[in-house]
Amino acid sequence: MSSKKVKTVITSALPYANGPIHIGHLVEYIQTDIYVRFLKMAGEDVIYCCADDTHGTPIEINAFQKGISPNELIEYYYKEHTKDFKDFDIEFDSYYSTNSPENKEFSDLFFSRFVKNGDIEKKEVELTYCKHCKRFLPDRFVKGECPKCGAKDQYGDHCEVCNATYSPIELINSYCIICKNPPTRKKSVHYFFKLSNYAEKLKKWLIENKRLQKEIKNYVLNWIEEGLKDWDITRDAPYFGFNILGEKNKYYYVWLDAPIGYIASTKHYCDQHNLDYRLYWEDKNGRIIHFIGKDIIYFHFLFWPAQLMAAGFNLPYNIVVHGFLTLKKEKMSKSRGHLISAREYLDKLDPNYLRFYYACNLSHSMSDINFDPEQLKNRVNSQLIGNFANFANRTLTFLKKNFDGKVGDFNDEEPLKKIKINVEKILAAYRDIDFRQVINLIMEIGDIGNNYMQSMEPWRVIKEDKKKAHEIVALCFHILKQLCILMKPIVPSLCKKLEKQLNLENLTLKDLEIKTDKTHEIGSPSPLVQMITEIPFLDVKEKPDPIELVELKVAKVEKAFEHPNSDKLMVLSVSLGKEIRQIVAGIRNYYSPKELIGKNIIIIANLKPAIIRGYKSNGMLLAAVAKDKMGLLTIFKASPGDPVEINGLTYKGSYELSINEFKKISIVSEGEKILYKGKILKVKGETVKADRNVKGKLS
Ligand code: MSP
Ligand code: ZN
Repeated sequence: MSSKKVKTVITSALPYANGPIHIGHLVEYIQTDIYVRFLKMAGEDVIYCCADDTHGTPIEINAFQKGISPNELIEYYYKEHTKDFKDFDIEFDSYYSTNSPENKEFSDLFFSRFVKNGDIEKKEVELTYCKHCKRFLPDRFVKGECPKCGAKDQYGDHCEVCNATYSPIELINSYCIICKNPPTRKKSVHYFFKLSNYAEKLKKWLIENKRLQKEIKNYVLNWIEEGLKDWDITRDAPYFGFNILGEKNKYYYVWLDAPIGYIASTKHYCDQHNLDYRLYWEDKNGRIIHFIGKDIIYFHFLFWPAQLMAAGFNLPYNIVVHGFLTLKKEKMSKSRGHLISAREYLDKLDPNYLRFYYACNLSHSMSDINFDPEQLKNRVNSQLIGNFANFANRTLTFLKKNFDGKVGDFNDEEPLKKIKINVEKILAAYRDIDFRQVINLIMEIGDIGNNYMQSMEPWRVIKEDKKKAHEIVALCFHILKQLCILMKPIVPSLCKKLEKQLNLENLTLKDLEIKTDKTHEIGSPSPLVQMITEIPFLDVKEKPDPIELVELKVAKVEKAFEHPNSDKLMVLSVSLGKEIRQIVAGIRNYYSPKELIGKNIIIIANLKPAIIRGYKSNGMLLAAVAKDKMGLLTIFKASPGDPVEINGLTYKGSYELSINEFKKISIVSEGEKILYKGKILKVKGETVKADRNVKGKLS
């Protein structure tokens, strides 16, 4: 087994078989596909391998909640994913599944080599466990109150309100998100991979591999400097995954077998094509190139190369890391509907547009791309269509109409000189995975072509000198052919259509060399692609600041009496100007009814009404709370019903707020002023204060 020729396997990260492909994922698959297509057109021996990532707790629980088996769930997504990719012209040589026999075999092989090397250590650990569900709970399956800021409904690993990180044991009033019961702790014996055994080798690989992005290299090296912790590669039953070699109720953690899925997918392809996967993964002329998003750097720059080292496989030749696609500058989120799925996009627009738009925005860097439908429209209409497709159509219809589609000969070499320089630069930019640069340079060639035709006016020349006019448009034909070749990796199906009209099929980079063939006849021209007239996706929901969902108003206390069935509660009657409301509040230990009457306080007016110990409560008053003190938020000059203003953030629309939603919002009293995200709460320019100057969090 040895190959003289370099053989390259290129991968994209394996999407979870737990939800649809969205346009964020597509950044990566389109970026990889463009690169693979380019290398193939350059005649390189490249295969593109990927798979669905099928294992792990979320998939197992998702299937359980849908009442189907994990196998049924992953089968469903396999079909959906492969169809989506196909419709975006993403052309894998192998699209497989991590739940495959090959992957099980490789996972066991890796594990047994780890054991043999002494890289595995067994340790007893204590984990969060739900007695009702009879399962260990990963961090994401436990929720509770943040131990730092008290925000409710926070996940077991970090707080979305104050950004604190902690472990699930620290959560207050924690509960299992499946059954809502409080979890307990339970011990289990786990296998750990001793990542630190590879610290030196990893460092060497990072330093010596000159292709890796510098920005990433530095901070991965930093992680190594800080010391690498042992990696827990075990999950207990119930789990959807592969049993650990020699164990019954223990499974490989999904991130152990997922990247091994790259190899399994390669092997599956090789077996079908009479090839040896080792030529890619073990031979010295094999090359591995991964494309990933910046959220999974840790796995691909530390765990994965260490696994490869331990198992005796080749190390990645390159790992290309891209940034996130954002919508309205916010990360896409499935739960909030802040997302565009691949299918929703396809229902509205041509896939070539998205491929082109991403290429325009992709350079070899980790910068995020903000999805901007208006920019997409402008780019497509002015460049893809105005510059490229129109040039094609003008050239081909002129040839067809006046010269029976015969290309003929040209003799003006001048425009080709500058084009030649650009072609070289474009090939280099493709190799550098700088597609933004590729597009810019291609558009310059398009400009040369369009300007040449515009200034030479073949439609005028033809009246006096038919031969000259033919030569002009023959040169345009050759420029167009070059453009077609250079655009092909980016918009393959569009260029395929153009190849047909050019009557030249399967163009490769070799065809960039200009050879005239006087007998060549083109096919029938037709417009390649439609202009975008309406801009879709402008209505993608903008995520409001949570405070904008809270209706804060000034209320004047008219009456107050002690709740007859509680020694903590007080029942208030407050005026909002046009209406009177009853509110029940736990303030009796701090205020007497007399003190309250006539006060201007601040209430949440759009809270769901509740019955509290027999009394209706329609709203909630805000107070700052410190150890033994409480101070209601107060205002003096304002009138009942006046809205509270927070520097540009205003209440938006009719919305019934739940108390839990409000609890996630952190407002702090500094006594003399009240702050939300550092902004001062005011009413008609007057600053809201806390009564008695109490400083602390609001509740
Ligand atoms: N299953 C893991 C990868 C295992 S690889 C051995 C995973 N799956 S994923 O479905 O969450 O993401 C797949 C890829 O899509 C990742 O590289 C991820 O960075 C990328 N993207 C997911 N959302 C994205 C955006 N909004 N924008 C750009 N890329 C994004 O991670
Ligand atoms: Zn439970």
